[in-house]
Amino acid sequence: MVEFPGFDQVPKTSRANLVYCCCISSLMLILITIWACPESLAPPTRPVAVVEVELADGISPDAQLHEPVGILANQQQLTKPAAPRLVKPAVAADSAAASACAGRRIYMYELPTEFNLALLELCASKLVGWINFCAHVQNYGFGESVNSSEPLFVDDWYGTDAYMLEVIFHSRMLRYECLTDSPSDADAFFIPFYAGIHALPYLYTDKRMEWQGPELVAWLQENATDSWQRHGGRDHFLIAGRTAWDFSRSLEDDTGHWGTTLLVLPELANVTVFSLERRPWLSMDQAVPYPTGFHPSTATSLRRWTHEVRTSSREYLFAFSGALRPSMATSIRGLLYNQCINSKTRCSLLDCSKIKCSHNPIPIYKKLLHAEFCLQPRGDTATRRSVFDSIIAGCIPVFFHEDTAYTQYSWHLPKDPTTYSVFMSETGIKNGSILVEEVLGSYSQTRIKEMREELIKLIPGSLYRHPESTDPKLIDPEFCDAFDLSVKGMLNKVLSFKAHPHSSQLAS
Ligand SMILES: *[C@@H]1O[C@H](CO)[C@@H](O)[C@H](O)[C@H]1NC(C)=O
Ligand SMILES: *[C@@H]1O[C@H](CO)[C@@H](O)[C@H](O)[C@H]1NC(C)=O
Ligand SMILES: *[C@@H]1O[C@H](CO)[C@@H](O)[C@H](O)[C@H]1NC(C)=O
Ligand SMILES: *[C@@H]1O[C@H](CO)[C@@H](O)[C@H](O)[C@H]1NC(C)=O
Repeated sequence: MVEFPGFDQVPKTSRANLVYCCCISSLMLILITIWACPESLAPPTRPVAVVEVELADGISPDAQLHEPVGILANQQQLTKPAAPRLVKPAVAADSAAASACAGRRIYMYELPTEFNLALLELCASKLVGWINFCAHVQNYGFGESVNSSEPLFVDDWYGTDAYMLEVIFHSRMLRYECLTDSPSDADAFFIPFYAGIHALPYLYTDKRMEWQGPELVAWLQENATDSWQRHGGRDHFLIAGRTAWDFSRSLEDDTGHWGTTLLVLPELANVTVFSLERRPWLSMDQAVPYPTGFHPSTATSLRRWTHEVRTSSREYLFAFSGALRPSMATSIRGLLYNQCINSKTRCSLLDCSKIKCSHNPIPIYKKLLHAEFCLQPRGDTATRRSVFDSIIAGCIPVFFHEDTAYTQYSWHLPKDPTTYSVFMSETGIKNGSILVEEVLGSYSQTRIKEMREELIKLIPGSLYRHPESTDPKLIDPEFCDAFDLSVKGMLNKVLSFKAHPHSSQLAS
């Protein structure tokens, strides 16, 4: 049996699990029969025009279709936990701790493991025949340690898969200091469902026509009655560690369009869902940062990194990353690529068709540390993990669409985008009136330094720190990483709807 560092013991197989396993075995038979022709599993059209996939990430379809061999080669490399397993912390009884937790108490449901940990046991191609994500699950969902001998990258760097946030979040929540055992004391409720991992068969196999989510709803309705009904689910949250588009196919749509039905189930309409990319018009969707490869375990490690970010010599005015595909030629990406080539020594090109970018942070970060600005055009969808890579590397992001960050990460990024980023219009690039080099070249060194200092302030809140960290500076309530900011945002949201119970769910 596979070991999962950082989790409580997986409960013994229950009858429900046995039934589930039988279903899985028959599903596996189906999978084995289609194993021979993975091309037939090519993802259907995505909601936003497919331009190109640059950081084809982990359990994303594209990485698997293009490099199944590399992924399969990673299997069974799960390591023993470096640190001892922690059990769910006892809820603090003394009054000092109790008051520190006032307004911050979270109840985490004990879902049957088929909704979370048991899915990880199926990582070796048992959910989808050509997707093996066992290597990515280890180390609390951070993936394999990258083992660089370079001092800057020696600790705390991992080949993190962009779609492992459910595991990362769960690892942290198990250690959250204000967990409560009593639903009636809770300020908010966390549903530890691995929505994106659970979605894989619904996205890539002939389970595609089925609805994702009814079993979860049934469980909540039957087993969470009081807490679920108290506020119609509005104080509940869960993580769907992919883009919201991957979970929002209409219930009436039986034509095999892309996406599962999880986020359109009416019963879940009041639940706040954290995803990597939200539907900007829905207040119940909340975007949280993509996990990157840097997960500091000590304040020293973080300080060493920010020192590098501040002092690194940035020989390039701007950087552009992306794999090249023929379909790119007329897209904004193709145009930006051409501008980068034309800018010669002022632009640094990171070609992800040459370096495998998705689980390989070091070459990416080495590039980003040497550019002042990083271009962030839309990809398959509006957001990209590389937005967070560039923030963490202090490379000022240049956006071409407001949905790439501004309408997304409202709990993590500043309200005033001009403090940390540059905006250029897509039409301006397309009609040739905007020359990237010219615009960026007009920024003074003073202004660039100011913006970089803003980015440096955003680094802690843009990464997921190591869950076993014992460094007092990192576990201090004053220190907020992306997890802390997400939880804080949720608690504030609950406070505000309790204060205005009749306010609309919809926000612009
Ligand atoms: C890094 O080292 C660990 C422990 O020795 C090993 O399990 C892991 O596979 C290595 N990672 C890579 C990318 O080689
Ligand atoms: C509620 O929980 C019980 C005990 O774990 C379980 O047997 C039952 O199937 C659950 N209900 C639903 C609808 O999942
Ligand atoms: C969502 O919350 C509203 C307001 O509390 C409530 O009227 C509605 O029934 C809830 N919806 C569901 C599906 O529980
Ligand atoms: C190009 O697009 C920009 C931005 O939308 C617009 O302001 C400008 O007038 C356009 N120029 C031409 C030549 O069409």
